[in-house]
Amino acid sequence: MKKVDVKVCMGTTCFVMGSSNLQKLIDVVPRKFKDNVEVSGMACLGMCSSSGEYSKAPYVKVNDVVVQEATIDKVVEEIERQLNEH
Ligand code: FES
Repeated sequence: MKKVDVKVCMGTTCFVMGSSNLQKLIDVVPRKFKDNVEVSGMACLGMCSSSGEYSKAPYVKVNDVVVQEATIDKVVEEIERQLNEH
């Protein structure tokens, strides 16, 4: 089965905009998806400055897909979508 790599941005902008809540993914994801998904935190993904606006933070990367204004639900949904692709 395909492996999904989840990176939660822990840079200042995303952290302030709520990525600290996304730490729960580290508990939720392994329980739900077991070994198919790996979650880790990352320094600024560079999205907050390249878009020139901060309103879409926090950002989470699910493989190559960037989830904007990320919530636990949005990230879980994207993981499921990617796992079901194959
Ligand atoms: S702080 Fe998250 S993309 Fe920059």
